[in-house]
Amino acid sequence: MKDQLEQLQKQALAELGGVNSEDELQSLKVRFLGKKGELTAIMKGIGALSPEERPLIGQVVNAVRDRLEEGFESTSLSLKERLKNEKLSSELLDVTLPGRRTPAGTKHPVTLVIEEICDIFAGLGFLVAEGPEIELDYYNFEALNFPKDHPARDMQDTFFVQDNLLLRTHTSPVQIRTMIKQQPPLRIIAPGTVYRCDYDATHSPMFHQIEGLMVDKGITFGDLKGILTVFTSQMFGSDIGVRLRPSFFPFTEPSAEVDIACVICRGEGCRVCKNSGWLEILGAGMVDPEVFRHVDYDSEKVSGFAFGMGIERVAMLKYGINDMRLLFENDVRFLSQF
Ligand code: DAH
Repeated sequence: MKDQLEQLQKQALAELGGVNSEDELQSLKVRFLGKKGELTAIMKGIGALSPEERPLIGQVVNAVRDRLEEGFESTSLSLKERLKNEKLSSELLDVTLPGRRTPAGTKHPVTLVIEEICDIFAGLGFLVAEGPEIELDYYNFEALNFPKDHPARDMQDTFFVQDNLLLRTHTSPVQIRTMIKQQPPLRIIAPGTVYRCDYDATHSPMFHQIEGLMVDKGITFGDLKGILTVFTSQMFGSDIGVRLRPSFFPFTEPSAEVDIACVICRGEGCRVCKNSGWLEILGAGMVDPEVFRHVDYDSEKVSGFAFGMGIERVAMLKYGINDMRLLFENDVRFLSQF
């Protein structure tokens, strides 16, 4: 019987070594130590022993039970520890790992140019003004001294919405809207979208302009030239040549077209400047008294200048883009270069 008990202990301890879960441990415990378990089964034979043998075997039974209980206890503890460690390492979170990056887009070249121009003029004391893209004929033409049958209206290829309502063909109506609301002195810059029925490598039916207006006592053509020279040198480099050519706009008198030396050939003559050495970048002039009359300004007391330029054209010159349509096709391979 003693051999049987020793055999049982050996067997139980060996099987304990291979236990992998709490469930397995429990069923093993029931099998060896339970009421109907293997130890109980052996103990049933005690009754058949001689009175001398009984206490001796009783001691062995107790020792085996103690040993096994201790074994179950320590296996249970180490099993818990092992499962905890496995869980910890499988759920490990490395807080020092870098986060996942969301790729950032880039700004559209038109946006970049608008921001740069606004920054330059902000430095000269100009505030940003805005106006609607669907505009009244009155602000787009009439108040800017384009009477109904004026031939200059033809140049603007207007999209009409209704008789007196149109998609603004330029940002100049913002001049009128601002002067109606505000008294001089004023200095504004008005970037925005404009529309004309025109489409080729240098024209798009939707494009952007930026308008400038400065009105105060004693503003002269010299102020206009000075401000524009500061602008062109900050935008295109301090050594860029600038020239003014006489021109005509209904809302300015005198009027001028402003050229910069060709950014490609620096005045030598090339394909971009059509061998002239110069590139036109904006229209400008002294505000016509007729415009002041429409907004109730006294042209005996104040004077001012205005200018307007196409943003896409500036962007094309600045970044060396040869087809305006590239700016509106939204090809990311193109756009992400800026
Ligand atoms: N509005 C004109 C155009 O779209 C550009 C322009 C010329 C604006 C002269 C001005 C100006 O303010 O003074 O062709």
